[in-house]
Amino acid sequence: MNVAIVGAQWGDEGKGKVVDLYGAKADLIVRYQGGNNAGHTLVVNGKKTVLHLIPSGILHPGKLCLIGNGVVFDPKVFFEEVDELQEAGVFEKDAYLRVQVSARAHVILPYHRELDRLREEQASPGGKIGTTVRGIGPCYEDKIARRGIQVCDLLQPEALRKKLSRAIEEKNTLFQYHFKAPVIELEPLLAEFLKIGERLKPFIHDTRMIITSALQANRPILFEGAQGTLLDIDHGTYPYVTSSNTVSGGAMAGAGVGPQAVSQVIGITKAYTTRVGTGPFPTEIEVTEPEIAQRIRKVGAEFGATTGRPRRVGWLDLVALKYAVELNGLTGIAFMKSDVLQDLECIRVCTSYQLDGNLSPHFPSSLEDLERAKPHYEVLPGWGSFNTQGVKVLSDLPKELCDYMRFVEDYLRIPIVLMSIGPGREETLVLSDPFSLDS
Ligand code: IMP
Repeated sequence: MNVAIVGAQWGDEGKGKVVDLYGAKADLIVRYQGGNNAGHTLVVNGKKTVLHLIPSGILHPGKLCLIGNGVVFDPKVFFEEVDELQEAGVFEKDAYLRVQVSARAHVILPYHRELDRLREEQASPGGKIGTTVRGIGPCYEDKIARRGIQVCDLLQPEALRKKLSRAIEEKNTLFQYHFKAPVIELEPLLAEFLKIGERLKPFIHDTRMIITSALQANRPILFEGAQGTLLDIDHGTYPYVTSSNTVSGGAMAGAGVGPQAVSQVIGITKAYTTRVGTGPFPTEIEVTEPEIAQRIRKVGAEFGATTGRPRRVGWLDLVALKYAVELNGLTGIAFMKSDVLQDLECIRVCTSYQLDGNLSPHFPSSLEDLERAKPHYEVLPGWGSFNTQGVKVLSDLPKELCDYMRFVEDYLRIPIVLMSIGPGREETLVLSDPFSLDS
């Protein structure tokens, strides 16, 4: 039984916590897209760990964590995380026995980060994407343009020299003439990345083969998505998206498996919505209900784990969530952070969009339509000052919160399988276990 977890909104839904929880059930935890633009926060025994690249299942002793071919891989960030985890005593033996990277993953080079920064800095006011400036987009561009550097290239001095010199030739024209920025020197870059290759060597594997062997032996696998459905390059709010397929389909190409490898797909959503970066957000309440937005941001600590940016806040958008259910083939929902809505008099839930005088339950394809869409809300009662901390069973939750959950389930027509009522591992109500469900 294998499970994929994906963000069902615009990222930051709390995937780190869910992967950490489900990681206990899996033998193998696989990241398949994105890179260190992700920021997965875990709180175990009161200790906070933020991971950007290494799968969040790493905190479970003995589990093998893989970074798949679909990930864009920044080796510097990787080694920072390895060193930090080593210091924290997470690895029983050598780190490379617990975390391995695909030979086919594409490498983020300093010029990718620099391009990302210059583009964001020099973009016209309406042209900024609001990226994490980690070089993610430029690295994926090079991959698609067939001039990327793969992890396996770091072990081949001659091939790396050829590939790097070809890649930087074009980049240098851009840096020099378009951005008026310093050009890249081949030799120091080559030396630096060959050295990185030496340290990386024991971590490099054909991860696809490892996953296939686990599949054949019926060992449970967890596929760990990053970012969120609405940031998907094909299906998200383009161009205000990330550069990978964040939907569950991304797991197939990004890990090297067929669709039957995934039997359950769990979508993570908060009880409200947040977004970082630019782009349309129909249920945003920063202008319409600023006090509530500020309250949710403060109570929910809604600041980016990667960049520290304040997240934009809004009500739960069921139109967008239904779209995520369909795109990902979701079989269950992990409902996060409902505790943050404590003390609100009423909860609004968007059930359709008003567009040109009509109510529509569909998420529009055109960015311009989405920008014009006005949310149509159902209003549900809040649960007052009831503090969900310490609650162990669903029946101890206030009726209004249970009614809110049922409303969401009825609309989406899939069950809530997990409910998070606080940041800690133990502050979770597990309603059913996707690893023991039939597909
Ligand atoms: P990039 O992935 O750095 O290119 O950024 C593209 C868009 O995706 C921006 O709006 C970012 O804020 C957003 N983004 C990227 N990674 C995450 C994430 O892990 N959580 C939330 N938003 C993200």
